[in-house]
Amino acid sequence: MIYARIAGTGSYLPGEPVTNDDLVARGIETSDEWISSRTGIRARHLAPEGVSASDLAEQASLRAIEAAGCEAGDIDLIIVATSTPDFIFPSTAALLQSRLGIRNEGAAFDVQAVCSGFAYALTVAEKFIASGSHKRALVVGAETFSRILDWNDRGTCVLFGDGAGAIVLEASDRPGVLASALHADGSHSPILCVPGTVAAGQVLGDPFLRMDGQAVFKFAVKVLADVANEVVDRAGLSMDEIDWLIPHQANIRIINSTGKKLGIDADKVIATVSMHGNTSAASIPLALDLAVRDGRIKRGQKVILEGVGGGFTWGAVLIEY
Ligand code: ACO
Repeated sequence: MIYARIAGTGSYLPGEPVTNDDLVARGIETSDEWISSRTGIRARHLAPEGVSASDLAEQASLRAIEAAGCEAGDIDLIIVATSTPDFIFPSTAALLQSRLGIRNEGAAFDVQAVCSGFAYALTVAEKFIASGSHKRALVVGAETFSRILDWNDRGTCVLFGDGAGAIVLEASDRPGVLASALHADGSHSPILCVPGTVAAGQVLGDPFLRMDGQAVFKFAVKVLADVANEVVDRAGLSMDEIDWLIPHQANIRIINSTGKKLGIDADKVIATVSMHGNTSAASIPLALDLAVRDGRIKRGQKVILEGVGGGFTWGAVLIEY
């Protein structure tokens, strides 16, 4: 039996933190009190002009590869979860392969599942490795959501940030991914979407993120609790055997409600939303890397990684780190 284990993690945030007060100073009609009381967000990072998802992915990947103690050339599969790719094509994963100087003609592709993207990408990578077709995967969440925000819509622009997180997942004789579950229900597409497209040299429709915040909130709390229970059941464990919960970092109230519903103590829930805002597919690997590097998550511990986002999509992966 071939299993897949996380060999190393890395992350990258562009520039200096942009605080809520900085947004007010930039002319957005909001306040630190409004944003932090409703969302828990105090700051986010915004990619400077010219910096794209592949740039962020490259930095996060270099750190994950170093932590894994391998060479970039050892990687034979790259999956990048992103909804803000550099281009319509080629994929950000193909660009990343080239940036990392990988010339082994391994597979590289993007996954588009918005804020669940990392859970989707990790699940796919695990199946490639377990099948024996690939030995070492780079799984990345990288986003420049600042590029698809309507900076005149204060109801959305204050919520998101840019960043990237990465892991190296490699073949092992010991299980590292204990269970996973992925879901989607496309009938909820209108409550969170970027409904524009490009055709005939023009943007057709609306190129900005649009959201029904209250509908998203209710949906997110329900499915994050359900899918966490699902993976714990599938692994034959109980919730009190879980060491850490890393939910998608959209809003501290969603994170706290999910932890409470699951009966997981607040001090076992990793929350980075106050510093990063919502970085969509990057939020889970960013939080994982932070908690690994600050020593909270240790080898052998069981961690639920779970996301929910546009589509609607949702999913969870239970790992033994
Ligand atoms: N600053 C100040 N006032 C604001 C702001 C702002 N940034 N944004 C909206 N308001 C005002 C509105 O204009 C409105 O004013 P009015 O009552 O005079 O009309 C008032 O605040 C309330 O607006 P609502 O949109 O009803 O605010 P709500 O209490 O629902 O909070 C929020 C909005 C924070 C988005 C909430 O719905 C929420 O947390 N939803 C979850 C959505 C989420 O986290 N999405 C992330 C992406 S999805 C994902 O990642 C899964």
